[in-house]
Amino acid sequence: MNTVTEKACAKINICLDVTGIREDGYHSIESVMLCVTLADDVTVEKTDDIGITLECSRSDLPTGEKNLAYKAAAAFYEYIEENPRVHIKLIKNIPDQAGLAGGSADAAAVLRALNTLTGACLSDETLRKIAEGIGSDVIFCVSSDPSFVSGRGEIIDYCAPLPECTVLLAKGNSGVKTPGAYRSLDVMYGDYSERGGLAKKCLDAMYSGSLDAISESAFNIFEEIVIPNDPEISLIKDEMKRNGASLSLMSGSGSAVFGLYRSESDARLAQKALREKGFFAEVCKPL
Ligand code: C5P
Repeated sequence: MNTVTEKACAKINICLDVTGIREDGYHSIESVMLCVTLADDVTVEKTDDIGITLECSRSDLPTGEKNLAYKAAAAFYEYIEENPRVHIKLIKNIPDQAGLAGGSADAAAVLRALNTLTGACLSDETLRKIAEGIGSDVIFCVSSDPSFVSGRGEIIDYCAPLPECTVLLAKGNSGVKTPGAYRSLDVMYGDYSERGGLAKKCLDAMYSGSLDAISESAFNIFEEIVIPNDPEISLIKDEMKRNGASLSLMSGSGSAVFGLYRSESDARLAQKALREKGFFAEVCKPL
């Protein structure tokens, strides 16, 4: 086998809370995360020469060590104590700076693909250990199953999936840089001593299987600090609601918004309206 291709699926947060600052400088989070069918295509190809090379369908993204997919390949070969011999091809469909874990999903897909390509047969648990050194969301993206995620993102407890529904992902023209979003949250919440427990209610709602209960308990702490600086997010949320979304919520630290719909045709109407406004909008399914 000389080539392996993996799907790298976008992630959404049905709820996202920040509950403390850790000694390692990261924040403790509590989140229900799941993936949707919108995905990048990630291919790894064996090469004769030693090294990692990367090509990307989007010319504005880095192709060297700054790309998380490159970092993932370097970390994988270091773990198996072999010289890297790989060319990575990324076909990007997930927008960046969106809170959809596009870069993290690519990195996790590289880990899975290299696991097959090299015949290393590492367990998901080992891949998650390697992922810890690459980025917090990469850990979840290794298996991508609906999960309650805590710690800095390394504690993964699988949970019930969403009930049957359609997902609309949309994003305006501005993006959000995650470290700055966390810094603004620190200013607002201090040591976060008042936070905690809200995400568990959302987890219970996931097990209830009721889209109404899930929509009522869903929240994202980052909305409070990101939305006031980005009027497009409110506009997108309002458009989704107007077209019958049961829930519309920002994902991660933004700026993408997802809508959950009972009716796929409502989701398609909202997609059309948002595209007419010049926004990115894709209809997909939850996994
Ligand atoms: O883990 P990752 O490198 O993706 O995180 C990017 C940045 O987001 C970190 O440098 C940190 O500022 C912030 N972060 C955090 N707590 C988390 C995850 C991310 O403070 N649990």
